[in-house]
Amino acid sequence: MCGIVGFTGRREAQPILLEGLARLEYRGYDSSGLATVNGKLYVRKTVGRIAALRKLLGDHPLKGNSGICHTRWATHGTVTEANAHPHLGGKGEVAVVHNGVIENYDELKRQLEAQGFQFKSQTDTEVIAHLVASLLSDDLVDAVRKALPHLKGTYALAVVSPRFPGIVVGARLGSPLVVGLGDHENFLASDASALGGFAQRVVYLEDRQLCVLTPDKWEICAADRTSADVEVHTLEWDAQDADKAEFEHFMLKEIYEQPEVIRRALAGRLNVAEATAHFDGLNLDARQLGQIDRIIMTACGTSYHAALIGEHLFEQFARIPVEVEYASEFRYRNPPIEKNTIIVGITQSGETADTLAALRESKRKGQRTIGICNVVGSSIAREVDGGVFLHAGPEIGVASTKAFIAQVTVLTLLAVHLGRMRHLSHQAGGRILDELQAMPDILRETLKCHDQVAAIADKYHHATNMLYLGRQYLFPMALEGALTLKEISYNHAEGYPAAEMKHGPIALVDENTPSVFLVPHSSVYDKVMSNLEEIKARGGPIIAIACAADTHVEAKVDDIIHVPSVPEYLQPLVTAIPLQLLAYHIALLRGCDIDKPRNLAKSVTVE
Ligand code: G6P
Repeated sequence: MCGIVGFTGRREAQPILLEGLARLEYRGYDSSGLATVNGKLYVRKTVGRIAALRKLLGDHPLKGNSGICHTRWATHGTVTEANAHPHLGGKGEVAVVHNGVIENYDELKRQLEAQGFQFKSQTDTEVIAHLVASLLSDDLVDAVRKALPHLKGTYALAVVSPRFPGIVVGARLGSPLVVGLGDHENFLASDASALGGFAQRVVYLEDRQLCVLTPDKWEICAADRTSADVEVHTLEWDAQDADKAEFEHFMLKEIYEQPEVIRRALAGRLNVAEATAHFDGLNLDARQLGQIDRIIMTACGTSYHAALIGEHLFEQFARIPVEVEYASEFRYRNPPIEKNTIIVGITQSGETADTLAALRESKRKGQRTIGICNVVGSSIAREVDGGVFLHAGPEIGVASTKAFIAQVTVLTLLAVHLGRMRHLSHQAGGRILDELQAMPDILRETLKCHDQVAAIADKYHHATNMLYLGRQYLFPMALEGALTLKEISYNHAEGYPAAEMKHGPIALVDENTPSVFLVPHSSVYDKVMSNLEEIKARGGPIIAIACAADTHVEAKVDDIIHVPSVPEYLQPLVTAIPLQLLAYHIALLRGCDIDKPRNLAKSVTVE
């Protein structure tokens, strides 16, 4: 979703701002823009990719040692150059970039128009620019500070003004913002990944804080301008993370990283002697963990599907009742929740607005919150009572792959941990740990299906409609397989519990509608085979993903992908790989922009 980068220093701002913005490209956007201060404000904006902005700035470069830039993901107003940020306030007194949504922008716009301010865009952001300009006298920080109480909604802002050269002001409410500290230069960004290699230390802004940056000074203050307590963090950054290496796309690189991602998610967390797992950051002692009698998991997108697998894991290993809720729904519901229920938020980015709001609301009601999150320093990681990091490394491809694998691995460990405090035996706990430790090698083996999956994609990539069917542990995988296909290939796909398709979706089955059957290695095997026959009887092509030991299914289907045989609870992990590769190759054959699919954002920071 929208990205912000700001800079002030002694070097030219344009190349630094552009490089930072390119690092945020993966988050999803539809237009971009950049402004520098050089006696007055200079602005360049384009629709489309950052390459277009880079070209424009190559032809018409901007000078200046401070500036701000932005990638926009349209919320208010269509995708046009006029609607791209930065927006100017007054007669070019200030330039503003903004992430978030200003809910009362209509009312503010009317007031500002009555004062004579002229609007050039359809955005909610332009009201902030004019509002700050209307309040500007001899102090830019004061003008921003006075503007903020008028804004209803969420924001991360960066503001510059030619009347105050070298100063970048930032403010945050509900949308992330991080200050990067350099040597005689300071930075601002909506995501620390923009700052890697530029700043070695960072400070994450809290809600209702402002920052004031000059080349030699940085200050973080509360809304009333009293100074705020801040914690300076070292920015961990690995140049390789931002590099596709030998892979054509980040998504493919990330699919291939998955064996290592499982190893990292397990590292340091296995207590083999006691046949359990341990976690440093849960902030719950054994007594509190033992008292948990219900778990509510809340998430969005792929993370929601990981939560659905977690439901099976917690119920099987820990015998704890679980509910899984879409965060966007859960945040506005008011269900009765007992004291010993914990709320677990699952999120790759740690910034998803709905998940953050659902966790905040739970916390406000006195519920204990746990975050399962990939991004250290993210809003959710900082706000929950306790948590577990995924250690999957930055995920750049918009469709989540390795973060999902890490989420399922961490949920399995948590289920063992809670199970061992209840009825899971030492022997069963030990067996699960052994099986988990074997998974990196098993996933390496699974990746060998790549060529075969590519050939199947070639055969079916013209189909515009596909069904994904699975049961029990593999039902969430059917949802995830369909979601990944939709996200990156723009093909329509539906995930269903295999038996449920009789109640509607079977009407879609014909010779042009392939079904991907996720064949389990479990007690429901025969049931799934009956469902498969029902599709076959209606002439629908069938692609099966089945375990290597299954010699029966091949004769019944059009195409088969064998994956290593593993216990039922680990089948989501081996099934994920062919599903990801199938979506990847179909999208590739359809000429789609795999890492940056249309309309999608990696980190959804608006409701
Ligand atoms: C967006 C992304 C998805 C992701 C979802 C939840 O929709 O495109 O890939 O699964 O957000 O994101 P989170 O960061 O909370 O896991």
